[in-house]
Amino acid sequence: MDLPASSSPHVRYVIDGAGLDGAVLDLVLDRPERKNALSVAMYTALAEGLAWASATPEIRVVRFRGAGGTFTSGNDLQDFLQNIPGEDGGPVGAFLRALVAFDKPLLALVEGHAVGIGTTLLLHCDLVVAATDAKFRLPFVSLGLVPEAGSSLLLPALCGHRQAAALLMLAEPFDAATAQRCGIVNEVLPAEQAAARLDAMATTLAGHPPGALQATRRLMKAGQAAALAAAMQDEGAEFLARLQSPEAMEAFMAFFSRKGR
Ligand code: COA
Repeated sequence: MDLPASSSPHVRYVIDGAGLDGAVLDLVLDRPERKNALSVAMYTALAEGLAWASATPEIRVVRFRGAGGTFTSGNDLQDFLQNIPGEDGGPVGAFLRALVAFDKPLLALVEGHAVGIGTTLLLHCDLVVAATDAKFRLPFVSLGLVPEAGSSLLLPALCGHRQAAALLMLAEPFDAATAQRCGIVNEVLPAEQAAARLDAMATTLAGHPPGALQATRRLMKAGQAAALAAAMQDEGAEFLARLQSPEAMEAFMAFFSRKGR
């Protein structure tokens, strides 16, 4: 099994942690100086990592995690403005399609901040462990944007319209306990125990017959597949239009100009 080189220095592919026997691929977001904000190049490296994991029989589980005590601050706002995606959503769209199409168990460990897509990608994961002090935020509306990654469908389906409205429409930060109550994370543990718990989950999954596990996952997701595809298409068109709106420009500039930047 030859692990390919990542096409971004800020996404590391790591196989095998904690004696997991080569069956687990970690996609590590590693850009701590930007709180692991996702650039276009990082989205491409993530999509390529998923494609490789899907095509490699030895890999049974994939996990998302962030370096430096943070998961991710979401889309790199600067990069985003400089690379406005086309109708197919560009590298972000390609990553989202790879995420939805991925056919093996997906896990995530959330430490520190999980903003924007840092939270919405969790809705596509099967098992998520968060550190007690993790902070989540779905800031799309406050940025003049709309939810993405199917979250306008998946979040209300997970926790009901009212709780989803509190997260997507108030757009305020929320804590790990709230994320657990809304079904976004499975377990909340002190940071020093959270990684060990994720290792234990991955070990259990990697020990199961992979065909049965993948089929179970596929069956669990099948009922929602058509609605998810439609929601993502709708969101993508709206997101693209909003991205170029005066509302979004103003919100992005406000972020860049805080602290005098
Ligand atoms: N895009 C681009 N740069 C980002 C970023 C992002 N999403 N998130 C953080 N950064 C940069 C900051 O501008 C800062 O740069 P500087 O060192 O040149 O000042 C650096 O990363 C560190 O971030 P900072 O804001 O100082 O860290 P913090 O711990 O005070 O706050 C966050 C962390 C995540 C709460 C805050 O950075 C934030 O709100 N980021 C924007 C999140 C966002 O709106 N994402 C888009 C979702 S669609």
